Amino acid sequence: MSKFIPVSEPSIKRKEIEYVTDAVRSGWVSSLGRYLGEFERSFAEYIGVKYALAVSSGTAALHLALVVLGVSKGDEVIIPELTFIATANAVAYTGAKPVPVDIHPQTWCMSPEAAAEAVTQKTKAIIPVHLYGHPVDMNPINEIAQSKGLYVIEDSAEAHGAEYRGRRVGGLGTCGVFSFYGNKIITTGEGGMITTNEQGFYERAKHLRGQAMSEGHRYWHTEIGFNYRMTNLQAALGLAQLQRIEEMICKKRRIFKWYKQCLKGLEAVTLNPEMPWAKNVFWMVCLVLESDVSVCRDELMAKLKAEGIDVRPFFYPVSQMPMYCDGTVNSVAYNLSERGLNLPSGVGLERTEVELIAARIANIIKGK
Ligand SMILES: Cc1ncc(COP(=O)(O)O)c(C=O)c1O
Repeated sequence: MSKFIPVSEPSIKRKEIEYVTDAVRSGWVSSLGRYLGEFERSFAEYIGVKYALAVSSGTAALHLALVVLGVSKGDEVIIPELTFIATANAVAYTGAKPVPVDIHPQTWCMSPEAAAEAVTQKTKAIIPVHLYGHPVDMNPINEIAQSKGLYVIEDSAEAHGAEYRGRRVGGLGTCGVFSFYGNKIITTGEGGMITTNEQGFYERAKHLRGQAMSEGHRYWHTEIGFNYRMTNLQAALGLAQLQRIEEMICKKRRIFKWYKQCLKGLEAVTLNPEMPWAKNVFWMVCLVLESDVSVCRDELMAKLKAEGIDVRPFFYPVSQMPMYCDGTVNSVAYNLSERGLNLPSGVGLERTEVELIAARIANIIKGK
């Protein structure tokens, strides 16, 4: 195969160029301007919450949410073992301890049973992560949180538009956080969003986002805030993307269906789950090798990459990282992490490319 197939790339069309050009021409290039308010309002409406606050990244959204909820040194925050490192790092920024718990084998997301077992006197919040586009089983997580008086921050960075029992993720806990990095379902280049139904939470997050400057008293600050603002240029891109989000999700779901059809009959592999109560947005198409296959994950990846097929390994378990390593082994996550890879999943992908990738995978596995 000669053509390089990226693992994911943004889809930028006429509307994005039109809105960003308009924002540049308006002169409002920093964090004031009409696209910011419009993007926030439209995003809140899309998720089904009262408030949305645009920030500079998904990591900033996580950090800001934790600060607003008062998480600090001495606290513990429960996170899933299998996630992008930002989930753990944001907890560490506050001085609190991230506590990784195992994932559920059927959803690949945080196991509610494992979360319940990890609650201690020090636990302040739970961060379920809707991994690779699949929603977490939220009802049991919310029940644990309610019974123990904990906050729930839904890390929805990889799952814009995913649904749990008919409701969009990001509106199911105390707050939701999203990322708009270039490989996400919709992008602003770099960027993030916090979603919530709680006015007090929203207002405090907004205050801290802009250096905690006192209302009506310019350059007067009574506490340490952050510059976590998004620019009007990013919001212009985001608004155009949001107006196309259903197109992106439909294509993601179609791409997954193509892979499913093309890899049918290859017993050595499993693809992403989709529980009966879930709408998975398949941010990344995932392939997991059965443990008895002759080829290992890294060998398969190397062979695909050599042919211009861009793939990524699954995230490594958080507790395997040197800064979070404490002897914990959450076996479901450890096992899955070793055997999983992300296949090309960009919305520009064509069926013929999926057919070629699937054929190559089948041949490598069969030793051809
Ligand atoms: C699960 C998860 N959480 C948080 C983030 C952080 O988002 P950002 O890269 O925008 O800071 C990401 C981004 O890749 C993510 O996948």
